[in-house]
Amino acid sequence: MPTKKLTFGTPETVVPSRYCPTFHYVEGKVSFDASTVITEKTARGFMLDFPLDADEQIYGFGLQLKAFNHKGKKLVLRVNADPIKDTGDTHAPVPFFVTSHKRGFFFDTARAAEFYCGYPRINQRAGDGDSADTTDALYATRAAVDTTWMNILIPGAAGVDMYVFEGDTLTEVVAQYNMLAGGGCEVPDWGLGLLFRTHHDITEKDVLEMANHFVEHKMPVATLGLEPGWQTKHYSCSYNINRGNFPHFEDMVKQLREMGFHVNLWEQCFVHPSSPIYDEMKPYAGDFTVWDGLVPDYTNPDARKIFADWHRKTLIEKGVDGFKADECDGSDYTGSWSFPYTAKFPGGADGEQMHALLGAMYGRTVLQALDGRPTLSEIRSMGALAAPLPFVLYSDLYDHTDFIRGVVNSGFSGILWTPEVRSTASEKDLMRRMQTTVFSVHALVNAWNCAEVCPWFIYSKQCEDKVRDLLHVRESLIPRLSAAFSRYHKTGVPPTRALVMDWTDDPETYAIDDEYMFCDNLLVAPLTAASDTRRVYLPAGKWVNFFTREPVQAGWHEVTTEDIPVYELQ
Ligand code: GAL
Repeated sequence: MPTKKLTFGTPETVVPSRYCPTFHYVEGKVSFDASTVITEKTARGFMLDFPLDADEQIYGFGLQLKAFNHKGKKLVLRVNADPIKDTGDTHAPVPFFVTSHKRGFFFDTARAAEFYCGYPRINQRAGDGDSADTTDALYATRAAVDTTWMNILIPGAAGVDMYVFEGDTLTEVVAQYNMLAGGGCEVPDWGLGLLFRTHHDITEKDVLEMANHFVEHKMPVATLGLEPGWQTKHYSCSYNINRGNFPHFEDMVKQLREMGFHVNLWEQCFVHPSSPIYDEMKPYAGDFTVWDGLVPDYTNPDARKIFADWHRKTLIEKGVDGFKADECDGSDYTGSWSFPYTAKFPGGADGEQMHALLGAMYGRTVLQALDGRPTLSEIRSMGALAAPLPFVLYSDLYDHTDFIRGVVNSGFSGILWTPEVRSTASEKDLMRRMQTTVFSVHALVNAWNCAEVCPWFIYSKQCEDKVRDLLHVRESLIPRLSAAFSRYHKTGVPPTRALVMDWTDDPETYAIDDEYMFCDNLLVAPLTAASDTRRVYLPAGKWVNFFTREPVQAGWHEVTTEDIPVYELQ
C-alpha cells in the first residue's frame, strides 16, 4: 500500500517519530502531486498550503469530541482537557487527517499546529457573474468551483516531514498510518472485560467487600481500579502506599488476583516531593512543577528507568497489572493547570512539544515498568503514532453525545477511547451509557465520585439485573473484539471505525457521527437518555439485527427501542 514521505524545509528534531521505537516507514508511490504544495518559512513558523477538491470531506485530527467533518473549519491542535467547542483542543490531538478522496496526510510535528481546512484562496474565487474572456480566465473560474485549499501552520518550525497515504477506502488509508507507527496494540482478553473503578475514599476492607459482592452477585467484572486514595500523596503523586487505608495492600492485591480480578491503579506522572524517587528524578525534570510535583522528561531513558524500576518493585511485582495515567494533558479551561509552552526540558523539548509527547512517553514508561506483562490501561492524553500503545483515552467531559462521537472519531487517528460510565442523571441515562460502554473497546464504570458504591445501587432493585445482562453481552463480544485487536496489530485496521471509513464511496456516510463499526462487522448506533427513537443508516450490504437475527434492509430506518441498536453485516 502506498505511503510517501515528503520533506519540506528543515524539520525539527523533537518530533513524534523520533520517540516511537516501532516507527517503520516503507516508501511507496502515491498519485498525490508534491509540486502542488506551497511552503514558506514565516515569522510565525512553517506554512504549507495545498489544494484539495471542493467536495473533499476532512476527518481525523485525534480525539475530536465536538466535531466530525472538519471541512471549512480552523483547528489548532492544542493538548487540552475539557474542550468546549470544535476548535481542535483535545486530550489527544493528532496531526493526521484523512479525506473522503481516500488519502491521508500526517505531519511529523509535536507543535500545536494550526489547520485551516478547505477554504477558497482569493485568486481561486469565481465571483458572482464573472465572465471568461480567455481560456485561462475560464479555467480559473472552473478551479474556483473544483478546488479548496488546506493551509497549515507549524509554529516555530522551519520545515516538516509530511507523509501521504492513499488506499481504496479510508480504512486502508488509516491502516497504513497505524502501520507506520508499528501496527495496533496487542491487548489481553481480560483487558476487554469490565473495568470497575472504586470510590476514591475507600479502604482495603471496602475493596474486598466489593470484590465479594461482584462474585456473589455474578457480575462479570474483570478489573478493579483504585482511585487516588491508595497513595499517601496524589496531586502530585508519591507512588507510596497509603498504609492508613491499605495496611495490607500487598495481601489485598494477592487476594484479588486469586479471586480472578486484575488490579489497576490511578496515578499521575508528576512526582511529589515526598516520593522516594523525587531526588533521583530531579535532574531529569523540566523547569516548572505541576501541583508541586516534578514533570520528569520521559523522553530520557534514565528518567523512564527510575520511574519504571520503582513501579515494578513496589506495585507490579505485587500483582498490579494496569494503571490509569491521569491528567497528563493539562487544561486551559479548568484553572490553567500544567506547564507553559515556554517550559524547558533537559532532552531539548519545550513545553509546547512536551504537551504533545507527554501522554505517549508516560505510556511507554508504564509499559517499561510492566516489563512485557500484558495490559489494557488508561491514559488521559495521547498524540501521534500511538497505535501500538495499549492505552485507552477517557475524559472528564460528560456529554453522552460527545462520548459517542469520540468512539466514532478515535478510529481515524490510531487511538482508543472509552465512553466511561460515571455519574448518571437517571436510571435511563445509566442504562443508555452502559449500553454504549459495553459496545466500545473498553467497558468502564468509573465510580470514583459516586454517592453509592455502584452507580446502579442508586436506582431500582432490578437495575443491577439489567446491568448484569449487559455485562453478559459484553462477555460474549470478547472473542470478536480480541480478533479485531489481532487484526489491528497485524494490519492497522482499527477495531472501531466511522462508516465513512469502510464505505468511503457512499456520500450518505459523510456526516454520520453517531454510528460506528465495532469489532469487524457490527454496526452500533447508540441511543442516549434523550430519546428511544433515532434514525439509523445501514450502508450497502446484507444486515441482520444483532439481537433478534432478523434481516434488515440497507438504507435509512427510524428505530424505536430500549436496547442499543446493533446490526451485523453478513
Ligand atoms: C480526574 C479523573 C477522574 C478521577 C479523578 C480523581 O482527573 O478524570 O476520573 O480519577 O481525577 O481525582
